[in-house]
Order: sequence, then C-alpha cells, then structure tokens
Amino acid sequence: MPSLGERIRGLIETLLSVLHFRPLELDPVQRRLARAVSVADFRAIARRRLPRGVFDYIDGGAEDERTLAANSAAYARVTFRPRVLRDVGTVDPSTTLLGRDLPIPLVLAPTGFTRIADPDGELAVARAAEWAGLPYTLSTLGTRSIEEVAAVSDGAKWFQVYVWRDRGLVKEMIDRAARAGYEALVLTVDTAVFGQRDRDLRRGFSLPPKIGLETLLDGVVHPSWAWAFVRSDPIRFANVAGRGEVGDGSDAVSLADYINSQFDPSLSWHDVEWIRSVWDGPLVLKGIQTVEDAVLAAGMGIEAIAVSNHGGRQLDSSPATLDVVEPIADAVADQVEIICDGGVRRGSDVVKAVALGARACMAGRAYLYALGAAGERGVDQVLGSLDADVRRTMALIGARSIPEVTRDLVS
Ligand code: FNR
Ligand code: LAC
Repeated sequence: MPSLGERIRGLIETLLSVLHFRPLELDPVQRRLARAVSVADFRAIARRRLPRGVFDYIDGGAEDERTLAANSAAYARVTFRPRVLRDVGTVDPSTTLLGRDLPIPLVLAPTGFTRIADPDGELAVARAAEWAGLPYTLSTLGTRSIEEVAAVSDGAKWFQVYVWRDRGLVKEMIDRAARAGYEALVLTVDTAVFGQRDRDLRRGFSLPPKIGLETLLDGVVHPSWAWAFVRSDPIRFANVAGRGEVGDGSDAVSLADYINSQFDPSLSWHDVEWIRSVWDGPLVLKGIQTVEDAVLAAGMGIEAIAVSNHGGRQLDSSPATLDVVEPIADAVADQVEIICDGGVRRGSDVVKAVALGARACMAGRAYLYALGAAGERGVDQVLGSLDADVRRTMALIGARSIPEVTRDLVS
C-alpha cells in the first residue's frame, strides 16, 4: 500500500506530466498573432481594436449587404470531391499571371485609405506582399503615394485607377505608375457612382475620420489606435496630395460626395481604349460581372479581368463572384486571364475558384483585418497561412499542381 505521501507525489507527477503552460508572451502583438489562426480570428481582433466607424468602413458593404454575404456563402456552398492515393508528396501551387510567376494564385486587391487600419498602411501591406512573393495593388485612393510604395517594395506592384473627370490627372497618375515600375494597371469599372454603405451613413463616417465627440469617445475606448493615429502623418489621398482643385482629403469628406463629384460616371468602353493607348503594360478590368461584358473585354484584347462586385460594396444584389466565374471562364478563359475577387477568407477558397476556372483570386479584407489586428506582422501571418492553406488543400484533394486543380474536384 503506497503511503499518503507517495500517493500525493504520484498525483503531482502525473499532473506535471500533462500540464503545459505557454511561456508568458510579453510582446502584445505576438500575443495577438498567437491567437489568430484564421482570417475570422483576425477580424474579431480588428473589431475590438479599431474604432467602430473604421471597422465598419472596412467590414461593411452596400445597402443590405446581401452581396457581401453572398460572396462568402458561395464559397461555403462549393464542396470538394477529394481524390485520394495520388502521391501528394510534392505539391506545387505556383502559377503564372500576366506573365509573372506567383507562389500561389493570389493578388492583393486595391483598398483605399489603408492607413486608417494601421499607420504603416500601404507600406506595410506592400512589404508583406513582396515577402510573400505576391503582387500588391495600390489604390488610386491610397494613403501612401505611387512613389512612396515603390520606394519600399521591389516586389510586383499593380496600380488601380479610378477615372477622374480630370483626364489629365489620370494620365499623370498612369505615367507616374509606369515610371515607378508598376507592372499592371487595374481599371475599376464598377464604381460609376458610389455604392450606398448604410453603416457609414448611419455614423456619418468621413475620411479621414473626423475628430468629433463620437470619435473622441471611440478613441478613449480604443487607445492604441487613437494614439497611433494622432502620432502619425495626417491621412491624405497621397496620390493627389497638394492638388487643391480635386481635394486631397486634408479636409474630411464623405466618401460618397468625394467620389460622386470627382469620378466620371460617363466612363465607357471608349475610355478603356484611351487607357489602353496611354499605358503600355497589361491592363486588368476589375468589376466585370456578366459573360456579355467579359466577352466585350476579351474582344478588346484586355489581358485580364477581375470578376468582382467590389467586395459587395457597390451594387447590392450583384451575384456572388464565385457563381459567375464558371460561366465567364467557359466563355473567355482561352482569351483573357480571369481573377476571382470577393469573399476569399481561406486558401481553400482560392483552390475552389481555380477549380471553377479562375487563374487567380484577389483578396482585400483578409489582409485589412490582419493589418488592423496586428500591423505588418499580421499581414505577414495571414499571407503565410493562406499559402499553407492552399498547399494543404491541394494535398487533401489530390492535386499536385495548379493544372491538376480541375473542375471535377469540386461540386
Ligand atoms: C475596397 N475595394 C476597392 N477597390 C478598388 O478598386 N479601389 C479601391 O480603392 C477600393 N477600396 C476598398 C476599400 C476597402 C476598405 C475594401 C474592403 C475594399 C474593393 C477591393 O479591391 C476588393 O474588390 C474587395 O475587397 C474584395 O472583397 P474581399 O476580399 O474584401 O471580400
Ligand atoms: C471603397 C472605395 C474606396 O470601396 O473603393 O470604399
């Protein structure tokens, strides 16, 4: 019979053998990174850290947010038909897009005002994209300029254009992007007028965020964001800084007023020809949503289209992008490269889009949530986990290379 002392010692030994405490992490960013396994985790952390208005601007969509929800729901509906026993000892998810090799079929989508999520904004995201080997698209409405982003990243960079009423300004920006080594131009065609974002309207959200009573209170509740915001350079539309006639955002504006007064709703296929004539590199039309328009774009010799509804931020009740990728791919995949944009939250989403005919995906909020949650290291981590997801998913469905990610692997 063991004595009481021996029994207690035995108990303690057993307990010690199973107890495992993580070492206490003193770096708060590292603590957040350790908790963020998925994009949804980053979103939850960003939601706590960012002022409500900022989070809602990033997270929200147009009107009833039906399209916003539909984009992700479409991915959830598609299931895999995994093939087994196919020797997936080596999986290669690399591909080419617009003539460039990519480690996985993914491009970082253009997002305006990135510095509201984190003061390092576009510079942080561009550096993280270069680190991951993925192209980064700078928005016309970036809060760091074409040249500032080029100065921190030698990676592949694309420039997104909105067509201002002032065509001289558009031409100037395109020339600057060419001089700074941007490889592709992305013309966004779904923003003839600005979509109605109900969340922003309810809050009277402006850009840059106005320091009113609500923002002050929000700042008290989100001190680290507020402290970083007041310490960093003022947030401006950096690509038009100093252009008094168009307004560079030094005065807070509602985005709808700004866009509706500055961007040209008369934009048409003729302007696409004009853009083509002033830009020598590959052109991507972002915001194609029907087979008819995809066929028109292919007929004009456009290099790539981004099938996109602007992440559900423009026309509500647009179809989920994944649902229109397949018919568009059936019609034009042999003439134009197809990028599927909207709702990507996992690497498995990228694999599904590729199986349905896309050459690559674009993702916006996935990296913005990570940036808001943990800055540049957050973006590094989220891009790393999307990469790992794609590789793991391909192994589990029995696809060793991107050409093997075929239609019969999903249903
Ligand atoms: C955007 N998007 C966008 N698109 C564009 O062409 N120019 C822009 O300036 C912006 N700005 C912008 C800001 C924010 C906060 C978001 C979330 C999105 C749309 C973006 O490029 C892309 O189409 C969507 O983000 C894709 O959907 P997911 O990946 O966010 O679901
Ligand atoms: C948006 C604009 C900037 O979606 O494109 O908010």
